[in-house]
Amino acid sequence: MMHMTKTIKEHLEGIDSDLGSLILKISGIANTISNELPYRRGKADTKNVFGELQLVADKWADQFIIDELRKSRLVKTVVSEEQPDLVKLSDTGTFNITLDPLDGSSNIESNNLVGTIVGIYKEDLPAPGKHQVAAMYILYGPVTTLVYTAQNGVHEFLQTKKGFVLRGENMKFPEPGKLYGIGGLRKDWLPSFRKYIEELETAGYKLRYGGSFVGDFNQILHYGGIFAYPALTTKPTGKLRLLVESNTMSFIAKQAGGASTNGKSSILEIVPESITQRVPTCIGNKGLIEKLEKIL
Ligand code: AHG
Ligand code: MN
Ligand code: MN
Repeated sequence: MMHMTKTIKEHLEGIDSDLGSLILKISGIANTISNELPYRRGKADTKNVFGELQLVADKWADQFIIDELRKSRLVKTVVSEEQPDLVKLSDTGTFNITLDPLDGSSNIESNNLVGTIVGIYKEDLPAPGKHQVAAMYILYGPVTTLVYTAQNGVHEFLQTKKGFVLRGENMKFPEPGKLYGIGGLRKDWLPSFRKYIEELETAGYKLRYGGSFVGDFNQILHYGGIFAYPALTTKPTGKLRLLVESNTMSFIAKQAGGASTNGKSSILEIVPESITQRVPTCIGNKGLIEKLEKIL
């Protein structure tokens, strides 16, 4: 039987060639990262700018990815979760990158999902999320997958011996959604937010929360529903970082027919004041996000 499998390289031929080269280069980090994770275990004795204890894997992945981006000669600057300041790579690069090298790294100990989240801009950072030219993530699960959009729909690839091959093209959040996954302690949710979630539960939405944004978002993209790390009474801006986490996923969500909100309006519209700012983050099916904005 002849089975046509489009590689990511072939898929990228349809877009701007520098952007295509950059996405292809970034896709090339996936094998090394999944092969190295067994050897990069344990805690580093340092904290990142967010005051979180870094793992050996966080620091190694950060350095590895930044080195690969430097070698591409396509990248001017990088904002990374593991770096306190903007990192300058070259004066001639076309793109500026936001990076969460290993999202969900507290899942490493228990062997749950982790991933890499990358936003791509031409504008200098920090810039509003809506100005991304492309956004992508890699999920190191039972199999490694890659999801990207270059404003041409959302496409998913599966890592095989032949590299990344197309698994799903023009993905859209299924309607009606099935799942919800919410971070933070329930006792710290705002009363209006809690009421909204109770309504979803009554309507039959099932809880699935894995503790990595990349994995939790990915399952909402596949089954429909809502992911949130909302404003908490104890942490009014929630936990997730606007540049390196929320904007990237919000951009992908919009391309998949979904939406994002900080409770008031689209996350993609926020004009960032710093590279480290956090934002209450709710992402998923458009109808669910619109309903949430009305309730909050
Ligand atoms: P990171 O591992 O990059 O620091 O991100 C962790 C984030 C995100 O992946 C997830 O949604 C959230 O933190 C989980 O937080 P809780 O442990 O509070 O559920
Ligand atoms: Mn993260
Ligand atoms: Mn991280």
